Amino acid sequence: MRFSEPDRGAADLTLTTLAQTEDHILDRRELLAYVNELARTPELWQDRVAFDTGGRHFVSILRDHNVDVWLLCWNTVDDTGWHDHDISSGAVAVVQGVVRETTPRMAADPITSDFAAGTAFSFGPDHIHRMAGAVDGSISIHAYSPPLWRMGQYSFSREGVMRRVSVSYADELRPLDGVAS
Ligand SMILES: [Fe+2]
Repeated sequence: MRFSEPDRGAADLTLTTLAQTEDHILDRRELLAYVNELARTPELWQDRVAFDTGGRHFVSILRDHNVDVWLLCWNTVDDTGWHDHDISSGAVAVVQGVVRETTPRMAADPITSDFAAGTAFSFGPDHIHRMAGAVDGSISIHAYSPPLWRMGQYSFSREGVMRRVSVSYADELRPLDGVAS
């Protein structure tokens, strides 16, 4: 099983991350600072790293009322497919290897960006993208605020009609049948 709930040690993360008020939705700048701090603190997540042969490995390492943090391990066969994050903003820090982000454009080729270890990026709730491992053995840390609850996955018919499917945050994102790349 590739999805796992936060464990007891996850509570320790709040001791080293941004001071948070009782109810505080992190903006993109705060989310970037959050994932960059986690990237510099491997002792908090390195024991959760694994590369499954059967699919993308993703582990929830913290989830509270403000933020949702995931550790993702990528090989080049791993691909989320097109998706959005509903009402959440997000940030991604790459800590090993290279992770590829692709954003779609209407009637034009998608824009592809490779993020190597030591780099990070953020996005708002209006963002649609797909992510994949650009090299085997890549690792990234993702934070979302407000915490993910629903997400949108996109499929394309043979005629090119795009449709959105609402999925749970705990579902594994993957290319849907008939997806055009
Ligand atoms: Fe995403």
